[in-house]
Amino acid sequence: MTDASQGVAFSRPMVAGNWKMHTTVDEGVALARAVCAAVAATRRVDVAVLPPFTHLWAVRPVLEGTGVRLGAQDVFWKGSGAFTGEISPAMLAGWCDMTLVGHSERRHLFGERDDEVGKKFVASLAHGLQVILAVGETSEERDDGRTFDVVDRQLDAVFAELDGPPAVDAWVIAYEPVWAIGTGRTATPEQAQDVVAHIKQHVRARFLDGSPRVLYGGSVTPANAASLFAERDIDGALVGGVSLRAEEFGVIVAAAETAASARDTD
Ligand code: 13P
Repeated sequence: MTDASQGVAFSRPMVAGNWKMHTTVDEGVALARAVCAAVAATRRVDVAVLPPFTHLWAVRPVLEGTGVRLGAQDVFWKGSGAFTGEISPAMLAGWCDMTLVGHSERRHLFGERDDEVGKKFVASLAHGLQVILAVGETSEERDDGRTFDVVDRQLDAVFAELDGPPAVDAWVIAYEPVWAIGTGRTATPEQAQDVVAHIKQHVRARFLDGSPRVLYGGSVTPANAASLFAERDIDGALVGGVSLRAEEFGVIVAAAETAASARDTD
């Protein structure tokens, strides 16, 4: 992988499917099988699925040997204790590959604070889990011209919890404008590129090691994926609704594969 801090785009994108609160366990196992089949020809893209917690253990063996990675949609920051209903990173470590923290639904529907997101981030890393950190502004914040301030604040709250820079491959950022999630109103490639480039700049200003990959999320579909991936700084996608449809998800992964080949031959 090429470090974006050197001014060269990453050559290995990531496409992750956030299933949110969808599917029964049986349906989830079937979906995981279908996803593995749909992305079987993938060589240049890190593919991940993020099923609900109840499904993780059942989905794990389905992914064995396929290269598709397994992620949890959230995690608590404590290792163990009297925290009814929570799942700790220690419970996921060793068999689950990654966590997602700071998703806007956690922030806005469940009142998760920036510092809590930071604690979840650090706890995941400490347990050897790769972390996808989601950031993004609401439509009001965008209209007020505060998009950069909001993502900077969300990132800085996480950095405040860190002792040093995480390894560049240990984390991934997902830029997900709240107004684009589940609305069918995708950010234009230019809008997404603009914020993703800003995020990378902000991270590089903080960590000389450079920026991790930055994905775009929010109404990504087979119809718009290629144009998003053609942007210089967009290193893949975090997909919601379409990740429940394996074939269409596979088309998005294939678009990332094509973009990766194009970047290689640039
Ligand atoms: P949609 O793709 O359904 O807009 O959801 C995006 C998302 O929230 C992924 O985490």
